[in-house]
Amino acid sequence: MLDPHADFPNLFVLDHPLVADKLTSLREHDTGRRAFRALVEQIAGLMVYEATRTLPTRAIRVHTPLEETDGVRLAGSPTVVPVLRAGLGLAAGVLDMLPNARVGHIGVSRDEKTLRPVEYLSKLPDDLDAGPVLLLDPMLATGGSASFAARVLREAGAKDLRMICIVAAPEGVRRMLRDHPDLPIYAAGLDRELDSRGFIRPGLGDAGDRLFGTGVRDRTDEID
Ligand code: PRP
Repeated sequence: MLDPHADFPNLFVLDHPLVADKLTSLREHDTGRRAFRALVEQIAGLMVYEATRTLPTRAIRVHTPLEETDGVRLAGSPTVVPVLRAGLGLAAGVLDMLPNARVGHIGVSRDEKTLRPVEYLSKLPDDLDAGPVLLLDPMLATGGSASFAARVLREAGAKDLRMICIVAAPEGVRRMLRDHPDLPIYAAGLDRELDSRGFIRPGLGDAGDRLFGTGVRDRTDEID
């Protein structure tokens, strides 16, 4: 039996009623595109709170209207890196909390037959070591895409690398532990398993398709 705390020291599952409630709505197959997008964005905003808890700060002095006092600023310059496409759904919620962050993009799609990651874009700021780098992808399935993206970011200079996802499969967390043992993963849920097609079960379906309306079962009758 899997003991997430003991088996996955790299995984932090957010234990919070708001996150759990919103994740449940994401799983619901009747949740339409507009609600799905909003929920992904809201979960991202809640998760970034936890994923940035250990960010270094520097002391400054600040002038209130009445006197001078101590304050803090984030020490580094954060970079947010969504894995295209589905990671884009998380980016807006994260940027609400880190409005000055730089944004890098990594385009990876998973080959449906081999389940291996295929890169099609990489556009990153030069000085990734100037602060924390938040890798965003709602799904951690086999871990192939996330492991690949993390390697690209490491090779590009990222030192403080953290990942935010929504649902993780044990297989993907294990793969990340093997390939990137020092990379913390913040997830809204750890699901049971991957099925034979590489889908996370119980999961929430294909996040990219549900965000962007590209799935064959996409609902076209939603009212705006
Ligand atoms: C999905 C998902 C992850 C990846 C997870 O993307 O958003 O990027 O698969 O699978 P893995 O852990 O087995 O690599 P997909 O390839 O469907 O592309 P999309 O985001 O454009 O829909």
